Amino acid sequence: MADDPEDGMLSWDESVFRDEHVFEIDYVPETFEHRESQMQSLQYALRPAVRGSRPLNVMARGPPGTGKTTAVQKLFDELSTQTDVRTVRVNCQVDSTRYSIFSRIFEGIFEYEPPSSGISFKKLFRQITEKLVEDDEVLVVALDDVNYLFYEGEASDTLYSLLRAHEAHSGAKIGVIVVSSDLNLDVIEELDGRVQSVFRPEDVYFPVYDQGEIVDILDERIERGFHDGVITSTVLDRVTELTAESGDLRVGIDLLRRAGLNAEMRASRTVSVEDVEDAYEKSKFVHLSHSLHALSENEEVLVRVIAEHDGEQAGEVYDAFHEETDLGYTRYSEIINKLDQLGIIDATYTNVDGRGRSRSLSLRYDPEAVLARLDD
Ligand SMILES: Nc1ncnc2c1ncn2[C@@H]1O[C@H](COP(=O)(O)OP(=O)(O)OP(=O)(O)O)[C@@H](O)[C@H]1O
Ligand SMILES: [Mg+2]
Repeated sequence: MADDPEDGMLSWDESVFRDEHVFEIDYVPETFEHRESQMQSLQYALRPAVRGSRPLNVMARGPPGTGKTTAVQKLFDELSTQTDVRTVRVNCQVDSTRYSIFSRIFEGIFEYEPPSSGISFKKLFRQITEKLVEDDEVLVVALDDVNYLFYEGEASDTLYSLLRAHEAHSGAKIGVIVVSSDLNLDVIEELDGRVQSVFRPEDVYFPVYDQGEIVDILDERIERGFHDGVITSTVLDRVTELTAESGDLRVGIDLLRRAGLNAEMRASRTVSVEDVEDAYEKSKFVHLSHSLHALSENEEVLVRVIAEHDGEQAGEVYDAFHEETDLGYTRYSEIINKLDQLGIIDATYTNVDGRGRSRSLSLRYDPEAVLARLDD
């Protein structure tokens, strides 16, 4: 019988999904519940820009998967469709130097890439500000995942240029939103004094969603993404529990999609709790995958080396790392710090007999899970 759920496979045109696209990583949700106060604070800070003045700067902070990027995307969509304010969001995971950030800004303003033939930073900067003055436009730049700029030691220079633009080029009006998901990083404290004196941002905090909020948000996504009756309330409860445990809404969204695929694999038109449990074996690593995919080649090499030398002393691990990359100890230490800050490894100081203090390096996840995701 064609519509017996237990009968072999769903045919090609059958699916539990109404619209699978709503579970994709870059989907911007149509409704954005439980972030009203954060959106209001952001709107308040940017309001002067709509009137042609320099807006207030903002620092948005909160753990992963709490809606920070979505808030910025929603706000920037509104600004670019309803006002003359220019907006550029830069993903600092990808663009983590001052130069590449300004290249992105250039691209956002001119709608083509800057010449790749090595134009100086100064020139790039001048072209951007001149264009803003000429068009009499206010620019708002969001440095998303700004914590990566700190790991690369590029944060102070980048912010300094953005915040002093109006002094370097009279009439240029730029506002900055920095977004950080690293709660151990004290953004203001880590900046140079010369930046601290000009950067006094409005603070907007994004707490983790509680269970009730998670249900609301996931329910809305289920409405759009699945056919009626595919997800029962028991299944939604389990997904919510697992999401709340991780604190990251991304886990819930990824769980729903994978559980849906598991149901289809069994040729079922409904998702079961077992589909969710199976999916969780992968979904619990979404954050790890996200962090790993943004690593440079040398950083990736170090993760692999640590996976093979899990728990060993930094000095011993260095020999293996150096053999593969030829990099020196200073760069090695910098990468260790970055991986530690990203929560991929644990680098704790221990006393080694007769040799003083040394760091032992271990992965915070099962080495096999890490290696599997690096090879994805
Ligand atoms: N209030 C909400 N309503 C609907 N979807 C949401 C809401 N908050 C977050 N999401 C969804 O959860 C996922 C994670 O959100 P987002 O990317 O904005 O988090 P983030 O705080 O920027 O995380 P990170 O710090 O890891 O970058 C996205 O898929 C987003 O669509
Ligand atoms: Mg984000």
